[in-house]
Amino acid sequence: MQRVGALSRRILAAAPGVLPSRRCDRLGLPVSTGSFRLACVSASITAPALSGLGLSVSPVSRSIHQYAAATPRPGRLSQGIQPLSAPVLASSMFQAQVGAFGPVQSLCGPSSVRFKKYVVPASKITQSELSRLMGLAKPEARTLAIAVGLLVVSSAVTMAVPFSMGRIIDIIFAETQGGSHQRLVEYTQLLIGVFLVGAAANYGRIVMIQNAGQSIVARLRQNLFSSIMRQDVAFFDRNQTGEVINRLAADTVVVGKAVTDNVSDGLRSVASAVVGIGMMAFMSPKLTLVVLGIVPPVCIVAVLYGRYVKRLTRQVQDSLANATQVAEERISNIRTVRAFAKEPEEVKRYDGHVQTVYSLGIQEGKARGIFHGATGLAGNLMMVSLLWYGGHMMVTNEITVGTLTSFLLYSAYVGVAVIGLSQFYSELMRGLGASERLWTILDSKPTIPLSEGHKIPHDRFFGKIDFQNVAFAYPTRPDAPVFKNLSLTVPDGKILAVVGTSGGGKSTVGALLLRLYDPDSGNILIDNYNVRELDASWMRQQIGLVSQEPVLFSGTVAENIAYGHPSATIEQIQDAAVQANAHRFITEFPEGFNTIVGERGQSLSGGQRQRIAIARALLKNPRILILDEATSALDAQSEHLVQEALERLMQGRSVITIAHRLSTIRNADTIAVLGNGEVVESGTYAELMALPDGQFRKLVERQTISAN
Ligand SMILES: Nc1ncnc2c1ncn2[C@@H]1O[C@H](COP(=O)(O)OP(=O)(O)O)[C@@H](O)[C@H]1O
Ligand SMILES: [Mg+2]
Repeated sequence: MQRVGALSRRILAAAPGVLPSRRCDRLGLPVSTGSFRLACVSASITAPALSGLGLSVSPVSRSIHQYAAATPRPGRLSQGIQPLSAPVLASSMFQAQVGAFGPVQSLCGPSSVRFKKYVVPASKITQSELSRLMGLAKPEARTLAIAVGLLVVSSAVTMAVPFSMGRIIDIIFAETQGGSHQRLVEYTQLLIGVFLVGAAANYGRIVMIQNAGQSIVARLRQNLFSSIMRQDVAFFDRNQTGEVINRLAADTVVVGKAVTDNVSDGLRSVASAVVGIGMMAFMSPKLTLVVLGIVPPVCIVAVLYGRYVKRLTRQVQDSLANATQVAEERISNIRTVRAFAKEPEEVKRYDGHVQTVYSLGIQEGKARGIFHGATGLAGNLMMVSLLWYGGHMMVTNEITVGTLTSFLLYSAYVGVAVIGLSQFYSELMRGLGASERLWTILDSKPTIPLSEGHKIPHDRFFGKIDFQNVAFAYPTRPDAPVFKNLSLTVPDGKILAVVGTSGGGKSTVGALLLRLYDPDSGNILIDNYNVRELDASWMRQQIGLVSQEPVLFSGTVAENIAYGHPSATIEQIQDAAVQANAHRFITEFPEGFNTIVGERGQSLSGGQRQRIAIARALLKNPRILILDEATSALDAQSEHLVQEALERLMQGRSVITIAHRLSTIRNADTIAVLGNGEVVESGTYAELMALPDGQFRKLVERQTISAN
């Protein structure tokens, strides 16, 4: 970090997601900005991730189900469906179609915004990337096939419009020369019938496409969330919450749209282009050549634009993720923000990220402006040449006025279709850009599988714990080993107190025992089984954790107590609450056990949360218990209540207690003092106090360990 100059730091602050890799190299930063950011991952993300997952992992699968249930199911029709335009009168249709050539869309905003040039790394489109994206639509093949069938019908109707209009104009023309009026009436009636069929087909097509799209998005979200839930804890150290949430919320929609709406629109464009050119060739091959002259340049512009959009999309999604990250963290910790009066700064920080998205949007707007301007101009020039050349042909009686009208309309249709195709291409590229990140998550296989391996039979499971020569550094900080050679033993049913300075690795002992991480070397054994051989979910179910900052989930008190044992009866829940000294305060709430605890239990006091966590652990009834400074954040009154509850909880279990209270430590069977990545002293209280120059004695004397 030292080598990063002030300017580069400004760039980083302004656009953390878009630092070009070349610059990273020059600054000696890791190439991926993701891993750069990881150096700044704050403890507030990792700590809840640890303790939140720490209780047991079987709730992981439950969370997946909950999430799946909350994901909107397919079949709901949402807004924003564009009707296929089918103008009725030749003149207004003509205008509408010609007008469609010129929608120069651009984003406008305050001129004070600085334009930044982002270095966009070149990207290649590989075959597999594309087929994988399209593969998402496979389960919807039937729905999509029906939609395509309906598309053929509605497109056929649409494509019949110009031809019919030409005929009608010729009929009207004939009538002015003394023809029969009856033909006009019949022809119009027939057309109305055909249009009604077209409308019905259009309705069906849009409903089908929407259904397929929603199913794909829902499935993608479910798979993604399921994959996220299974990731190693280290994954959550590396990836920020808001980023991951953005993948779930935004990227899935972009991808879902790319393979449904977009494909449908693309097919419609193909159909319009093919039929349109076919009809034109049928009516006048000569005039058709005039139209075709315009197609290749438009295609070239479209491909260039599409590539650009793909790269841009990846950046926009990244910047959006950054913005979501900031918002998510600040909103969920609004109390801290308020206490520090940091609202304006946080708003500014968020603005900074939004500004990046905004600037990228402006860039896209410029590109889109050029694209639409150029294609619109090309289309209009084509119209003019058609009128000029077609007019000439009409004068020489080569074609009728009706044919010229039909021809003009077809060429407008073809023009719109070509633009539609190029939009299809750019939307596809957008989908590819967004899907890359999804594949990264879906493909990353956790190194610690949730459930594979041995389960110790209940009657042979005692809960003896051994750490043998464990060396460990957190994956995100490989150069800062927490343990170099840690060995400790907890005989079954005994209590081990782990003491040491803050940051000495006490909580890490718990994390390793729960197998949130695997040691770099050495072994951790439970009942002489290496934890690597044991089924991790099963093993975690046998371990209870009460941490300093217990995490509750939004829901009722009863739900939170039953988190580790979902099938518990209300009597069991109440019994656990009584033992945890939590019954009294719970029943004093007007809603009792049905009281909502608020997000992360924030509407409860620290001591109340703590006792609910103890009740949760009691109900889970684990063989092994980890108490991580479970009383350190409490006042004397609740500490007494919690302490009493903890003593009940500890009975008959193997316990690792990380404590700062002398009374707890004194009651332990063994005390292990951590220092320098290993156990520097261990023994009973009396033994350690007897060491004249002992570390433990120093801790007690310096009152690092509190006396009461
Ligand atoms: N998720 C994490 N990623 C990287 N480093 C961590 C993580 N959690 C803890 N650490 C670091 O590991 C060391 C030991 O932490 P910990 O076990 O929490 O200490 P304590 O003894 O205070 O409980 C500390 O230096 C801490 O900064
Ligand atoms: Mg700790």
